[in-house]
Amino acid sequence: MAILNILNENRNLFELRKKSRPVEKINRRITTLLDDMRETVKHAEGIGLAAPQVGVLRQVVIIEIEDGDLIEMINPEIIYKDGEQIEIEGCLSSPGKYAETIRPATVKVAYTDRNGDRKEREGTELLARAFCHEIDHLNGVLCFDNAQRILSKEELDEMRKDEQESE
Ligand code: CO
Repeated sequence: MAILNILNENRNLFELRKKSRPVEKINRRITTLLDDMRETVKHAEGIGLAAPQVGVLRQVVIIEIEDGDLIEMINPEIIYKDGEQIEIEGCLSSPGKYAETIRPATVKVAYTDRNGDRKEREGTELLARAFCHEIDHLNGVLCFDNAQRILSKEELDEMRKDEQESE
Protein backbone atom coordinates (compact mmCIF):
# COMPACT_ATOMS: atom_id res chain seq x y z
CA MET A 1 0.00 0.00 0.00
CA ALA A 2 1.06 3.55 -0.59
CA ILE A 3 0.21 7.00 0.62
CA LEU A 4 -0.89 9.04 -2.37
CA ASN A 5 -0.47 12.74 -2.98
CA ILE A 6 -3.73 14.62 -2.36
CA LEU A 7 -4.38 17.38 -4.89
CA ASN A 8 -4.79 20.85 -3.44
CA GLU A 9 -7.35 23.30 -4.79
CA ASN A 10 -4.81 26.12 -4.74
CA ARG A 11 -2.44 24.31 -7.08
CA ASN A 12 -4.60 21.70 -8.82
CA LEU A 13 -8.03 23.27 -9.23
CA PHE A 14 -8.08 22.46 -12.95
CA GLU A 15 -7.70 18.74 -12.20
CA LEU A 16 -10.21 18.81 -9.34
CA ARG A 17 -12.81 20.30 -11.70
CA LYS A 18 -12.68 17.34 -14.09
CA LYS A 19 -15.43 14.73 -14.16
CA SER A 20 -14.59 11.15 -13.28
CA ARG A 21 -15.53 8.26 -15.52
CA PRO A 22 -17.37 5.13 -14.32
CA VAL A 23 -15.33 2.03 -13.58
CA GLU A 24 -16.12 -0.61 -16.18
CA LYS A 25 -14.09 -3.47 -14.81
CA ILE A 26 -12.90 -3.98 -11.25
CA ASN A 27 -9.33 -5.13 -11.73
CA ARG A 28 -6.18 -5.08 -9.65
CA ARG A 29 -5.63 -1.41 -10.45
CA ILE A 30 -8.95 -0.50 -8.85
CA THR A 31 -8.50 -2.65 -5.73
CA THR A 32 -4.98 -1.27 -5.26
CA LEU A 33 -6.39 2.23 -5.67
CA LEU A 34 -8.97 1.49 -2.94
CA ASP A 35 -6.24 0.18 -0.62
CA ASP A 36 -4.02 3.19 -1.26
CA MET A 37 -6.89 5.62 -0.80
CA ARG A 38 -7.66 4.10 2.60
CA GLU A 39 -4.07 4.46 3.69
CA THR A 40 -3.98 8.01 2.35
CA VAL A 41 -7.15 9.17 4.12
CA LYS A 42 -6.00 7.62 7.41
CA HIS A 43 -2.64 9.32 7.10
CA ALA A 44 -4.34 12.65 6.39
CA GLU A 45 -6.74 12.06 9.31
CA GLY A 46 -9.73 12.56 7.06
CA ILE A 47 -13.02 10.68 6.85
CA GLY A 48 -13.43 10.42 3.10
CA LEU A 49 -11.63 10.65 -0.19
CA ALA A 50 -12.58 10.55 -3.85
CA ALA A 51 -10.25 9.19 -6.56
CA PRO A 52 -10.00 12.50 -8.47
CA GLN A 53 -8.42 13.99 -5.34
CA VAL A 54 -5.46 11.69 -5.92
CA GLY A 55 -5.42 12.38 -9.65
CA VAL A 56 -7.39 9.34 -10.80
CA LEU A 57 -10.49 10.30 -12.81
CA ARG A 58 -12.53 7.25 -11.92
CA GLN A 59 -15.76 7.00 -9.93
CA VAL A 60 -14.23 5.59 -6.77
CA VAL A 61 -14.87 6.85 -3.23
CA ILE A 62 -13.98 5.71 0.24
CA ILE A 63 -15.50 6.82 3.53
CA GLU A 64 -14.48 5.70 6.98
CA ILE A 65 -16.11 7.72 9.71
CA GLU A 66 -15.82 5.14 12.42
CA ASP A 67 -12.70 3.03 12.56
CA GLY A 68 -13.42 -0.32 10.96
CA ASP A 69 -16.61 0.77 9.18
CA LEU A 70 -14.97 1.22 5.81
CA ILE A 71 -17.30 2.05 2.93
CA GLU A 72 -15.72 1.50 -0.48
CA MET A 73 -17.90 2.74 -3.32
CA ILE A 74 -17.38 2.19 -7.01
CA ASN A 75 -19.74 4.06 -9.38
CA PRO A 76 -21.82 5.46 -6.50
CA GLU A 77 -25.06 7.33 -7.05
CA ILE A 78 -27.50 9.01 -4.74
CA ILE A 79 -30.85 7.25 -5.08
CA TYR A 80 -32.78 8.97 -2.30
CA LYS A 81 -32.46 12.08 -0.19
CA ASP A 82 -34.67 13.76 2.36
CA GLY A 83 -34.65 16.68 4.77
CA GLU A 84 -31.99 19.25 5.38
CA GLN A 85 -29.01 19.83 7.66
CA ILE A 86 -26.65 22.78 7.97
CA GLU A 87 -23.16 22.05 9.24
CA ILE A 88 -19.56 23.09 8.90
CA GLU A 89 -17.63 21.16 6.28
CA GLY A 90 -14.03 20.90 5.18
CA CYS A 91 -12.07 19.04 2.52
CA LEU A 92 -8.65 17.39 2.39
CA SER A 93 -8.01 19.27 -0.86
CA SER A 94 -8.54 22.60 0.94
CA PRO A 95 -6.60 22.41 4.19
CA GLY A 96 -7.57 24.99 6.80
CA LYS A 97 -10.68 26.13 4.93
CA TYR A 98 -14.19 25.51 6.25
CA ALA A 99 -17.63 26.37 5.00
CA GLU A 100 -21.19 26.16 6.19
CA THR A 101 -23.12 23.97 3.77
CA ILE A 102 -26.69 22.74 3.44
CA ARG A 103 -27.00 19.01 2.82
CA PRO A 104 -29.88 16.53 2.93
CA ALA A 105 -30.48 15.05 6.39
CA THR A 106 -30.81 11.54 4.98
CA VAL A 107 -29.06 10.17 1.91
CA LYS A 108 -29.26 6.73 0.37
CA VAL A 109 -26.61 5.61 -2.10
CA ALA A 110 -26.27 2.69 -4.47
CA TYR A 111 -22.78 1.55 -5.42
CA THR A 112 -20.67 -1.41 -6.45
CA ASP A 113 -18.25 -2.86 -3.92
CA ARG A 114 -14.80 -4.26 -4.71
CA ASN A 115 -16.29 -7.72 -5.26
CA GLY A 116 -18.58 -6.40 -7.96
CA ASP A 117 -21.75 -6.62 -5.87
CA ARG A 118 -24.26 -3.80 -6.14
CA LYS A 119 -25.11 -2.48 -2.68
CA GLU A 120 -27.16 0.23 -1.01
CA ARG A 121 -26.52 2.16 2.15
CA GLU A 122 -28.40 4.88 3.95
CA GLY A 123 -26.75 7.55 6.06
CA THR A 124 -27.78 10.46 8.25
CA GLU A 125 -25.83 13.30 9.85
CA LEU A 126 -22.11 13.12 9.06
CA LEU A 127 -22.44 10.04 6.82
CA ALA A 128 -25.14 11.72 4.71
CA ARG A 129 -22.86 14.73 4.31
CA ALA A 130 -19.90 12.55 3.40
CA PHE A 131 -21.88 10.72 0.70
CA CYS A 132 -22.81 14.06 -0.91
CA HIS A 133 -19.37 15.60 -0.49
CA GLU A 134 -17.44 12.70 -2.03
CA ILE A 135 -19.90 12.08 -4.87
CA ASP A 136 -19.71 15.81 -5.69
CA HIS A 137 -15.95 15.37 -6.15
CA LEU A 138 -16.64 12.84 -8.92
CA ASN A 139 -18.46 15.62 -10.79
CA GLY A 140 -15.75 18.20 -10.21
CA VAL A 141 -17.80 19.95 -7.52
CA LEU A 142 -16.15 21.18 -4.33
CA CYS A 143 -17.99 21.76 -1.06
CA PHE A 144 -17.27 25.47 -1.18
CA ASP A 145 -19.08 25.91 -4.50
CA ASN A 146 -22.55 25.88 -3.00
CA ALA A 147 -21.66 26.82 0.54
CA GLN A 148 -23.82 29.22 2.46
CA ARG A 149 -20.67 31.03 3.49
CA ILE A 150 -16.97 30.45 4.01
CA LEU A 151 -15.88 30.76 7.64
CA SER A 152 -13.73 33.76 8.45
CA LYS A 153 -10.33 33.58 10.13
CA GLU A 154 -11.88 34.84 13.38
CA GLU A 155 -14.48 32.05 13.33
CA LEU A 156 -11.80 29.45 12.65
CA ASP A 157 -9.75 30.74 15.59
CA GLU A 158 -12.88 30.56 17.75
CA MET A 159 -13.54 26.98 16.59
CA ARG A 160 -10.01 25.95 17.48
CA LYS A 161 -10.31 27.56 20.89
CA ASP A 162 -13.54 25.66 21.60
CA GLU A 163 -11.92 22.42 20.50
CA GLN A 164 -8.95 22.94 22.78
CA GLU A 165 -11.20 23.76 25.73
CA SER A 166 -13.24 20.61 25.25
CA GLU A 167 -10.16 18.40 25.19
CO1 CO B 1 -13.37 16.82 -0.27
